[in-house]
Amino acid sequence: MPRWTRALVTGASSGIGDAIARRLAADGTDLVIVARNVERLQSLADELRERDVEVLPADLGDREQLARVEARLADDHQPIDLLVNNAGFGFTGDFIDLDVERETSVIDVNITALTRLAHAAGSAMARRGNGGILNTASIAGLVPSPRTATYGASKAFVVSFGESLNQELGPKGVNVSTICPGFTRTEFQDRAEFDASRIPGFLWQSAEDVAAAALAGVASGTPRVVPGLPNKMAANTTKLMPGFINRRLTGLLSQG
Ligand SMILES: NC(=O)c1ccc[n+]([C@@H]2O[C@H](COP(=O)([O-])OP(=O)(O)OC[C@H]3O[C@@H](n4cnc5c(N)ncnc54)[C@H](OP(=O)(O)O)[C@@H]3O)[C@@H](O)[C@H]2O)c1
Repeated sequence: MPRWTRALVTGASSGIGDAIARRLAADGTDLVIVARNVERLQSLADELRERDVEVLPADLGDREQLARVEARLADDHQPIDLLVNNAGFGFTGDFIDLDVERETSVIDVNITALTRLAHAAGSAMARRGNGGILNTASIAGLVPSPRTATYGASKAFVVSFGESLNQELGPKGVNVSTICPGFTRTEFQDRAEFDASRIPGFLWQSAEDVAAAALAGVASGTPRVVPGLPNKMAANTTKLMPGFINRRLTGLLSQG
């Protein structure tokens, strides 16, 4: 028996979302896959044809398109028992040099869409008395993020929001877990216009490893998952270090 019957995965056209969708399908879970790139979603659905895979293209930054995804989560016909709130992005640079429209589009997807989807899914799941919500945050949400200030702050929202929902929804039978990946080999860095060439190899993880840790986390209802030893050490060390050292170190890592 798969742990989940039907999962809706946002950001399934690439990277961590794609890896989560593939792992769920291999475990016997049917899927609803969401992103903007229809061709990529369709080709993933074709590859996973042994499962029932619904392609639901949507730009989550567009309220009308987002509403279609919310409606799918609220639908009791072929109900969704796992929401993977994974789509997200950010841009690199000093905040005042970045385009403010692009910066607020990060908030639209990383915060507003994630919140609305969690509300739609959480309500339906709590009513049914079972389900799971997996949010993708970031190590960037645990530390200051100079040169990715809006992105880091959006992920700090996801960490706090996810851990609060874990407490509220757990007693109603809904596991809520938030994953905080570190550097993961996906299209993220290119899209973020981030030069990753100076990041040492040992800090990188594969999308598959992150997906495995994330799914184990939501299956067990673990509130916060930090995948990989270097990331765990960084997350724990930053808790103990004075704020000025944290700000200096993250500033050095993110130099343009
Ligand atoms: N890679 C890392 O180092 C890293 C580290 C920490 C956290 N994360 C987080 O992990 C999550 C997945 O990122 P990734 O690393 O897998 O990057 P990725 O390969 O760039 O994938 C991002 C996914 O989000 C989707 N997406 C972006 N904007 C969207 C929009 N407006 N509407 C719908 N879908 C949208 C993209 O699909 P379309 O372009 O087809 O819409 C794509 O499927 C993100 O939340 C990211 O912040 C990544």
